[in-house]
Amino acid sequence: MNPKLNRREFINVTAAAGAGLALGLSPRTGAAGSATAKPAILGGPKAHSGAFPGWPVFDQTEERAILDVVKSGNWFRGSGKAVAKFEDEYKKLTGARHCLATSCGTSALTTALGALEIGPGDEVIIPPYTFIATYNVVALNFALPVFVDTDLESFQIDANKIEAAITGQTKAILPVHIGGSAADLDKILAVGRKHKISVIEDACQAHLGEWRGRKVGTLGLAGCFSFQASKNLNSGEGGALLTDDDGFAGICYNFHNQGRGRAASGYNFSYSGTRGSNLRLSEFQGAMLVAQMTRLAEQTKRRTENANYLTQLLNEIPGVRPAKLYEGVTRSAYHLYMFRYDRAHFAGLERDRFIAALSREGVPCSSGYGPMNRDAYVQGLARNKGFLKVYGEQGMRDWLDRSYCPQNDLLCTQAVWFTQAMLLASKNDMEQIAEAIRKIQKHAGELVET
Ligand SMILES: Cc1ncc(COP(=O)(O)O)c(C=O)c1O
Repeated sequence: MNPKLNRREFINVTAAAGAGLALGLSPRTGAAGSATAKPAILGGPKAHSGAFPGWPVFDQTEERAILDVVKSGNWFRGSGKAVAKFEDEYKKLTGARHCLATSCGTSALTTALGALEIGPGDEVIIPPYTFIATYNVVALNFALPVFVDTDLESFQIDANKIEAAITGQTKAILPVHIGGSAADLDKILAVGRKHKISVIEDACQAHLGEWRGRKVGTLGLAGCFSFQASKNLNSGEGGALLTDDDGFAGICYNFHNQGRGRAASGYNFSYSGTRGSNLRLSEFQGAMLVAQMTRLAEQTKRRTENANYLTQLLNEIPGVRPAKLYEGVTRSAYHLYMFRYDRAHFAGLERDRFIAALSREGVPCSSGYGPMNRDAYVQGLARNKGFLKVYGEQGMRDWLDRSYCPQNDLLCTQAVWFTQAMLLASKNDMEQIAEAIRKIQKHAGELVET
């Protein structure tokens, strides 16, 4: 596989093998992967010869759900019942007081920041190791995205460095539970409380993840989820915001509904706040989510079991370090299985060559995110007309200086990812992943030379 594929392209490639397969074991794979065999990239047999389970998983449950909405003629949340049913069920599943469905995860984050009235002159703390949406939602409000460096061991925002990044302008902390494992919520929530700054959890990858027995996304003022096609809960596109705060829930509802309240009748809408947009989920997506949710608990259990087993196997391989889970993580959603690759233990073999070799062994993998804070797109913010108007040339130069994240830079040279659907395979498949890595390690010297 081309290690230069971005995350979504990579997920599409790995899913293409078996889209629509019902959840089940992958076919029994060949056992030709003993560490002594030649690496597949050099013409040897693959360590993992079968296919990993495809994604999405669906059957007649989803077909019926969609057809029911089609036949009902009620295709938007104002007239139908599916979105409301989803909200009710997701609320129960997560233990949140309120759930608001949105058109995508980005819209859920936009709603949370909009409801907080975050705007020009404000700062929002974010990690650099995340999907670009976390940055975009801040920048779109003409607020400054302030990067706090990554904890190399866990891949999460370094909670110990957040306080030093807080200024009089900081209006929110937006930690991301990257890969589906929680950031250090004890420390993050404590800093938020101390400085009276709201914490909005970007839980877009963390469905059913837990922190000390509570579902992530329910610990900050709000938690935002994505149901985009690659996600563990999938309606193609879709999102949700959870909150326990009654007042905030009301503001969020109105914001996502063009500033209009629930009690509206006819065209005499009751507006609130000063801004809003249409960020509503459709009934088709609501119905899909209700159907997909019937599989979520079982799939999550399987991912957890396989990920734990894989971690046990990979911990025995020098130079392979699975992302650390904080002590408070009682369950990772394992949207991604992430580890660090240390080429020093692989005869100096470049990470991209390792990824290419592992992919050829029948184990699809990618290098994950690049250093977002150094990306030309993100750094271009310093030349954006609106930002220059609000913060001035010097303010934007300072912002570039503050965006230095050396640990994240290092992580982006070492990370390797597997996708969540691979964790729906069998224990035997996990063993073959480890076997493939051991094989590459054994032959690393040859691979460096070829
Ligand atoms: C961490 C993170 N935040 C936000 C988003 C945005 O979600 P969506 O694509 O549903 O808008 C994603 C989706 O990939 C994500 O992974």
